[in-house]
Amino acid sequence: MKVIAVTARKGGVGKTTLSMHLSVLASTAEKPALLLDCDPQRSLAWWHRLREADVPNLIEADARELPELVQAARREGFGRVIIDTPPHAEDSILGAMRVADLVVVPTRPGPLDLAAVATTLDLAARVGKEPLAVINHAPPRTGAAEPAIVTEARTALGNMGARVAETVIANRVSMSHAILSGLTVGEHEPDGKAAGEVGALWREIEALLSGGPGKGSGNAR
Ligand SMILES: Nc1ncnc2c1ncn2[C@@H]1O[C@H](COP(=O)(O)OP(=O)(O)OP(=O)(O)O)[C@@H](O)[C@H]1O
Ligand SMILES: [Mg+2]
Repeated sequence: MKVIAVTARKGGVGKTTLSMHLSVLASTAEKPALLLDCDPQRSLAWWHRLREADVPNLIEADARELPELVQAARREGFGRVIIDTPPHAEDSILGAMRVADLVVVPTRPGPLDLAAVATTLDLAARVGKEPLAVINHAPPRTGAAEPAIVTEARTALGNMGARVAETVIANRVSMSHAILSGLTVGEHEPDGKAAGEVGALWREIEALLSGGPGKGSGNAR
């Protein structure tokens, strides 16, 4: 079993949105993923109640319960656990990072957003994890070249020492439409660009998770 913690000190960057998408992509009929909603705002639980599908499973949790919940998930045979966290509760973020095999840090590509990533990277360093930054809310590509703001964000994140996902998630209205229907973009519009991006991100993350223990892998065994 592998645990992914989605964390960022900054609000509104896409923690909940990525958590829901990763959890559906990580689910199969035989082996659903488990979502742990550790944000008292419970946005993830709200979306989950809108869903008709049986997967993923969801538990509304307090971050202090995470070590026990992760152990229980392992006993119950879950393959993937995804933890959504609040932006401002440092203890909750650290708690999720501690049990994670991979820490995912979504960010917008703007300069002030990137400056805030540094504080999340500091927390990850405190628990010995190497996070994966994911640029979300990017302007959609109009041609073959990546928008300049995305390339600049990659460079800035690299200069902070962050590992950056190759896949960038663009700002797309289909994301809102999907969420409002209790769906993911892949379920709402399987052939859409958003579904393609989120799918590519999941493949990248799976490759990291199955790449054996590296600096980013955790102690949740
Ligand atoms: N790629 C995207 N395209 C369009 N809308 C998006 C995208 N990613 C996120 N959103 C929207 O942006 C808003 C903020 O996203 P989300 O709630 O996932 O962020 P968050 O980091 O979990 O926020 P919080 O810190 O408040 O928990 C939501 O309304 C969400 O639907
Ligand atoms: Mg959230």
